[in-house]
Amino acid sequence: MRFDVLTLFPEMFEGYLRQSILKLAIERGLVDVRLHNFRDFAPGKRRQIDDKPFGGGPGMLIMCQPVFDCVETVQAQAAVPGRLIMLTPQGRKLDQSLVEELATEERLILLCGRYEGFDDRIRQGLQPTEISVGDFICNGGEVPAMLIIDTVIRLIPDVLGDETSSRYDSFSRAGRLEHPQFTRPREFRGMTVPEVLLSGDHQAVERWQDEQSLQRTMERRSDLLQTQPTPGRTHQQTVHGEET
Ligand SMILES: C[S@@+](CC[C@H](N)C(=O)[O-])C[C@H]1O[C@@H](n2cnc3c(N)ncnc32)[C@H](O)[C@@H]1O
Repeated sequence: MRFDVLTLFPEMFEGYLRQSILKLAIERGLVDVRLHNFRDFAPGKRRQIDDKPFGGGPGMLIMCQPVFDCVETVQAQAAVPGRLIMLTPQGRKLDQSLVEELATEERLILLCGRYEGFDDRIRQGLQPTEISVGDFICNGGEVPAMLIIDTVIRLIPDVLGDETSSRYDSFSRAGRLEHPQFTRPREFRGMTVPEVLLSGDHQAVERWQDEQSLQRTMERRSDLLQTQPTPGRTHQQTVHGEET
């Protein structure tokens, strides 16, 4: 899957691209991330990218021309034009079902805003899918873009090994939160691991995990249960059209 990130701060991605799961996915050719700077498409010596809003108000807005030129150039670089995403606090809120939808695309082009955001004609003219990562304001779209890449790549086949499979993650298994988990030692500062997990009885372990998952979801996020079918590991779950 290819991601094109359009930003004024491509350097912000350098460390991120060189870490952990994403680094390995890039090395294995499963994910391709290309960075593009709007400023390279700004005219003149000063390469001006932003200007004051008409009608007054604080801050600066990113201007139309460098963004349109950058998007059109990047779209033409591959056979698939890709789905254009604008990161904006005014967009559809990112959740696991939207992540699953994005993971079906071959290519995502991510527009990262800065300052007071984009001239509204960028939205009108390019008609991107507008996505918000939550009801708060970030300084720019770069961290939200990383969040999209981070969440989407987990669903690309073979990116995660079996040991880190996403299929039991919170929100994936019928929309529930994941059950609590424990590792060694068996006892730490008087706190012990539930006996059933040490029993070697796989069916009992699965039953316990299902119960715990349901209980956690009821306690913390009962809203999730209202929109989801009743789960159970005995029912086959569908992740990306594959039975698991
Ligand atoms: C400081 S924000 C501008 C906010 C804008 N003035 C508003 O009130 O809607 C600058 C940029 O950060 C990004 N951004 C900020 N918060 C975001 C969020 N919750 N989700 C996605 N992108 C966000 C957007 O790309 C935005 O253009």
